[in-house]
Amino acid sequence: MTDQASYDQFRVRGPVSLRGVVKISGAKNAALAAMCASLLTDEDVVLSNVPAISDATDIAELITRIGGAGSQEQGGALRLSGRGVHSTEAPKDLIKRNRASFQVMGPLLARHGHAACPMPGGDSIGQRPIDVHIDGFRALGAEVDWSGDRWVASAPRGLRGAQIFMDYPSVSGTQNVLMAAVLAKGHSVIANAATEPEVRDLAELLRVMGANISGIGTQWIEVEGVPALRGAAWSVMPDRIEAGTFAAAAAATSGTVRIEGAPIASMEAPLAKIAAAGATVTRDGEAIAIGPGRSPLDAIHLQALPYPGLPTDLQAQMTAMLTQAKGESHIFERVFDNRLLYVDELRKMGADITVAQTRSAAVVRGPTRLHGTRVFALDVRAGAAVLLAALVAEGTTVIEDIYHLDRGYERLEEKLRGLGVEVERVHGV
Ligand code: EPU
Repeated sequence: MTDQASYDQFRVRGPVSLRGVVKISGAKNAALAAMCASLLTDEDVVLSNVPAISDATDIAELITRIGGAGSQEQGGALRLSGRGVHSTEAPKDLIKRNRASFQVMGPLLARHGHAACPMPGGDSIGQRPIDVHIDGFRALGAEVDWSGDRWVASAPRGLRGAQIFMDYPSVSGTQNVLMAAVLAKGHSVIANAATEPEVRDLAELLRVMGANISGIGTQWIEVEGVPALRGAAWSVMPDRIEAGTFAAAAAATSGTVRIEGAPIASMEAPLAKIAAAGATVTRDGEAIAIGPGRSPLDAIHLQALPYPGLPTDLQAQMTAMLTQAKGESHIFERVFDNRLLYVDELRKMGADITVAQTRSAAVVRGPTRLHGTRVFALDVRAGAAVLLAALVAEGTTVIEDIYHLDRGYERLEEKLRGLGVEVERVHGV
């Protein structure tokens, strides 16, 4: 995030019915983990389909700041490796602004027997503990202590395989501990592992790098440690959250949109819910066609859950969509404990939404005619929700703090314009 970007805003003119074709970029949460995995080897890991988003720039900067190699190929692929790493201390500024960067801890610990990381920052969407990561490293034989301003992990004689039970199937916890386990001596089991496709994508990359992993994509991952990993060429999976965001936007605006290159097999939940709300959803090879169906949409109930449930990263966008549905929709957020903060922003635009005292459930009454006003992108997905609302709102919506959107959505305004949206980025002063 540059200072300038922190003041950028979007001005979106609505209402608009989306029309056209959109091509899906590489998955943010798979790409960030894959970049961290490059620290596991001195050989080159060449990653294609890494989205050009600021979160990826942050991780690339982290890798090079601690001495690792990083360059961009013609055509956009990233060439990364752990060759030259001279520090196992992750820089505080990067870890604070980009939570995913805590995932350098597993690879550094596994390769160098030492890693230090401040407590990661990140979006305000609820508690973001890291006990699952720490417990996993300890199970693998590392000594891990909080030194007052950072976590310090050390295993001078190397990690050893272990039976690891995760209290919660944390996505980045599974990725971090898996990256540590691949170089541990002996056999490891990660029980209650996260099954998100982004975990699977990382595990498959690690396998191409020479790791011995079975149970990929299940809650029970087994690893036979190997002494070293090699370089690899890998194409990051497409972003199911970006695809789901465009699908919800198409449905909310009664649009006709072809979403190309989406990971359809891992999108059962959002596509089922969008179809249940009444939009037409057609799967066509690697493309999803969303078309108008019932107008207005119908109210539905939805719950954000770990995969294969509806992703929490689409909960806000689906709620914005449901402001256009007839009746009462009930939303349950079951992954994070405070991920409904964006509701206040939607309310400024005229949405009729009540949040329960528990802050983990909401009732949306619709359809409501939304109106443009000034709102804030509170985090990457909250930003997507207000953007989606701006498409159906009458008049101009000014979305502040769009650096959050830049963290997770590649070439967003270009893609929106391709679908007929009048959107302008106004640079801050
Ligand atoms: N949790 C624990 N202990 C831990 C870690 C997590 O109890 O040690 C709990 C959290 O409190 C939370 C739940 O587990 O209630 C889920 O957290 P998880 O660790 O799975 O999330 P994460 O790995 O920090 C990733 C994505 C998020 C996405 C979540 C859930 C990355 C970089 N981030 O976060 O993505 O919401 O998984 O799917 O992979 C986003 O893209 O907008 C985003 C926030």
